[in-house]
Amino acid sequence: MVEKGSEWVVMATGRSPTNIAVIKYWGKRDENLILPINDSISLTLDPLHLSATTTAAVSPSFTRDRMWLNGKEISLSGERYQKCLREIRRRANEVSDAEKGIVIKKEDWERLHVHISSYNNFPTAAGLASSAAGFACLVFTLAKLMNLKDDLGQISSIARQGSGSACRSLYGGFVKWAMGNNTDGSDSLAIQLAEETHWTDLVIIIAVVSSKQKETSSTSGMRESVQTSALIKHRAETVVPARTLKMEEAITNRDFASFAKLTCADSNQFHAVCLDTSPPIFYMNDTSHRIINLVEKWNISEGTPQVAYTFDAGPNAVLVSPNRKTAALLLQRLLFHFPPNKDINLTSFVVGDKTILQDAGVTSMKDIETLEPPPEIKDKVPYQKFMGDVSYFICTRVGSGPKVLTDETLALLDPITGLPK
Ligand code: ADE
Repeated sequence: MVEKGSEWVVMATGRSPTNIAVIKYWGKRDENLILPINDSISLTLDPLHLSATTTAAVSPSFTRDRMWLNGKEISLSGERYQKCLREIRRRANEVSDAEKGIVIKKEDWERLHVHISSYNNFPTAAGLASSAAGFACLVFTLAKLMNLKDDLGQISSIARQGSGSACRSLYGGFVKWAMGNNTDGSDSLAIQLAEETHWTDLVIIIAVVSSKQKETSSTSGMRESVQTSALIKHRAETVVPARTLKMEEAITNRDFASFAKLTCADSNQFHAVCLDTSPPIFYMNDTSHRIINLVEKWNISEGTPQVAYTFDAGPNAVLVSPNRKTAALLLQRLLFHFPPNKDINLTSFVVGDKTILQDAGVTSMKDIETLEPPPEIKDKVPYQKFMGDVSYFICTRVGSGPKVLTDETLALLDPITGLPK
């Protein structure tokens, strides 16, 4: 390494997507290593709409490891951060920057400190798996900075120790987290089932549901389920192994009807496990249940699934439709039942891929007010509207995995000081 006292900063910036599980991860067999009791499968969401961006920097002038999240300094002392940092440092390799005349030797990484700054392009508090994108990005970016030679599967196994579902965010497209068998967790990692280009017609609409209630954290919720639910055992041992195979087949064949049935069934069983937990855990609320009803009624009236729903450990609905045309019809239904509060504008009520909104024929707030009731409920008056119960909608799609951002203007740390810009 260049002599002590010299002033230099070496940085790397990465961007990682979030993901939504269609076969749910719920329950650990090892709390410390974050090893699950069943396989899970997810869709990676387009990083343009939902992602974390992280810059990691190293400099001999740094006196301790520091991290900033969305511009605010946070503590890195938590066990999950420490595990990721320890694991990456252990696998770090020599880095040389000929231009700057810097060589960082493999053994230097143990004593050099890092600065990390991360930013989520969506509200961290909205319950949209920010920790999955966040830990995937942290591990991916540090792995680039420290020149890890490990493959993405091994990197995903490190991210898993930060936040279980983060391991699935190391790949784009359709991803399985194989639970693995080894007690050391070395085979509990993400595997890409198909790239994002495999099934490009899918459209995803997320309804961010207003919630005043403090939810049970996933960590404690799944611990309580493992300790008290009989259903979770049946789910992990019998239901999920068969369902995972069927889901892989549905994805391979782009079989939307099968994909939708399996996705809805798995979300419902996950929430049934939560109800089977003592004391019971309620993640969905009345709005979530109304969205399920709306979808089920529509699917039944068409005789074949038009849309799949899935809910994580919170009230937000993630809805998957087979194509843009169906997505526009879905958005019309959602806007009909859940119009915005009077003070909200359309631009902030429907975000992401706004072309779906155009396809739905909605270009102004007035268009929402004049939407006709959907045919499947038209004759069943009175129908109800729930103004303000959905905070906003995000229209998105299946997207790509983590990427290194080489454009220095996108870095979140100053290249001279190594502090947030
Ligand atoms: N938790 C939520 N968002 C995060 C991020 N971007 N990085 C690390 N941890 C997070």
